This record gives sequence, C-alpha cells and structure tokens, in this order.
Amino acid sequence: MSTELRGLNLSYRYSGGKPWQAKPATAALTDVSLSVGAGQSIALVGSSGSGKSTLLRTLLALHKPHAGVVELDDRPARAGSVASLRWYRRIVQYVPQNPAGSLDPRMTIQQLLQEPLHQLRVRGDHRRMIQEALERVELDPAHVRRRPGELSGGQNQRVAIARALVTSPKILLADEPVSGLDLPLRNTVLDLLGRLVTRDRMGLLFVSHDLAAVAQLCQRTVVLSSGRIVEEGETARLLKEASHPVTRQLIAAVPGLPAMSESAKHTVMADSQSSYNRSGLHGRNGTMLLQP
Ligand SMILES: Nc1ncnc2c1ncn2[C@@H]1O[C@H](COP(=O)(O)OP(=O)(O)O)[C@@H](O)[C@H]1O
Ligand SMILES: [Mg+2]
Repeated sequence: MSTELRGLNLSYRYSGGKPWQAKPATAALTDVSLSVGAGQSIALVGSSGSGKSTLLRTLLALHKPHAGVVELDDRPARAGSVASLRWYRRIVQYVPQNPAGSLDPRMTIQQLLQEPLHQLRVRGDHRRMIQEALERVELDPAHVRRRPGELSGGQNQRVAIARALVTSPKILLADEPVSGLDLPLRNTVLDLLGRLVTRDRMGLLFVSHDLAAVAQLCQRTVVLSSGRIVEEGETARLLKEASHPVTRQLIAAVPGLPAMSESAKHTVMADSQSSYNRSGLHGRNGTMLLQP
C-alpha cells in the first residue's frame, strides 16, 4: 500500500489569554481536510496568519485538534508521548523554516544526523543510513566530522534536509523552507525537494507564499484563508484560473506573473508541470517569468 497522510475535518483554536482576560479564542483552523501521498507534492499557500503553521503542527501531531483526526494509512496519530509517536515520526518528518539555522553549531554532522536515529530508536546500521541520507542530498560523506561552521550555507541546508531524511520517511512537511534564503540557496533547496518527490517518490507538503516556488515544485495547491480552505486544485490551473480573491492576491504579489500574456502563462505553467524544472519558468524569449 502506498503511504498516505490524511487530515480529516481538522479544527483548532488557540485559547484567548488568561481566564480573567476574557479574550476570545482564535479559531486558527476550521474543518480542514487535506491529504498527501507518496510521490505527491502539495502546496499550502495563504497570507500570514491564515493557519498554515497551525495546520502543519496539527498534522505533525504536536498538538491535539479540537475536532477531526490525523491518520497515516488509516492509523490515527494522536498528540501524546514521544514513545507513542515514534512510529509516526519515522514516516512523517519535518523541514523547518531556514533549515540550516536549526542546526546546533556545536555538533558534528555525524552527531546531527545520528540524533533522530537515536530519538526514534531506529534499528540497523546507522553509519550506512547517514551515508545514504548524505548521498540523497548530494553532500560528500567526508563532511561527517565537520561542524556547521565549517560548511557553506548551501551545504548546511543539505545537512538539515538530510536530518529529516535519515530515518527514511515517506512524507515531508516543510514550513516555508525557502523563505529568507538568498536566490542560489533557495534554488538548491527547491531542486533537492523536487528530486525527492520525482526520484524517491516522497510525499511533500510545502508551505510557502512564494508562488514561483510552488509552480515549480507542486502538482496541487491548497489555499488557506482565516483557517479555512477557500480554493484548491491542480497548481497550473489554479494559477491560471484563480477564482478566490485571496488566491488572486497571492498571484498578484509575484512579480512577472500578472504581467504575463495569456499565451506565455500557459506555456510557463505547462512546462513547470511537466518537467518540475526551473527552466520551465523561462518564457520562450528566455526571460525569467516567475522568479522573484
Ligand atoms: N501560539 C499561539 N497563540 C495564540 N494564537 C496563535 C498562536 N500561534 C498562532 N496563532 C494565531 O493563529 C492564527 C494562525 O496562525 P499561523 O498558523 O501561525 O498562520 P500562518 O502560518 O499561516 O502565518 C493567527 O491568527 C495567529 O495569530
Ligand atoms: Mg507560519
């Protein structure tokens, strides 16, 4: 059976301050259903405060939804003790925003990659697993004795992603993994994530408000606004025929996209879908149409 992560009818609210403050609770998610399976790449887009991170935390079983259920292949994943969720964390992993910034500078690459294997009590040959994770992100395994300070920014991004891959997960949840990165680093991370989906059949839920990245990477897009899904569909079609004002606003925020002629847009979208390659973002005349 191919792996599938499902969130069904999820609702979540943050309690409103201290009891005597009588602040209303924030409904951060309302009745959200979403699934991501092996080999699928789904974008989750929405303006700041729309509930994207809350949805990711809920799917990661870091907190309990007020309604709904998170399931991995029909087995419920409920927020709880570390031990009760090990099975889930081996399969569903997380790539944080600015991945390299999440690395402890005192640890060697070897130690950084060993940590999730220890925490999740993965049995087997850890040395081999670490080598394989480094190979998957195309990082020279000779670097294992080094510390983050001795590697370049791009190499550290790879280490951070290798950390998410070392337990051989099937699903990756990435919260704005390229925001705040300069263009070359952004492209490095996007290329890596794209290869994980197409080559390794990883499932990817990619949170971003970078629609150029979304067009490059994700087959489907889900648009969140005030904690509700307002629009979803195939990315190419959604970017072409967005009907919800929130989606249109997000598209308008990408330089180049609104200025494109209809025929150029069609070309770009068709290319980016078929090849998952940044070259698909170049118009016929060679200009970059979607890059910020
Ligand atoms: N820890 C928190 N306590 C109270 N409210 C929160 C907390 N985290 C987020 N929120 C609120 O929940 C809503 C959704 O936030 P979030 O999921 O962080 O959105 P996004 O990731 O799309 O920017 C926002 O209204 C935000 O202010
Ligand atoms: Mg967020």
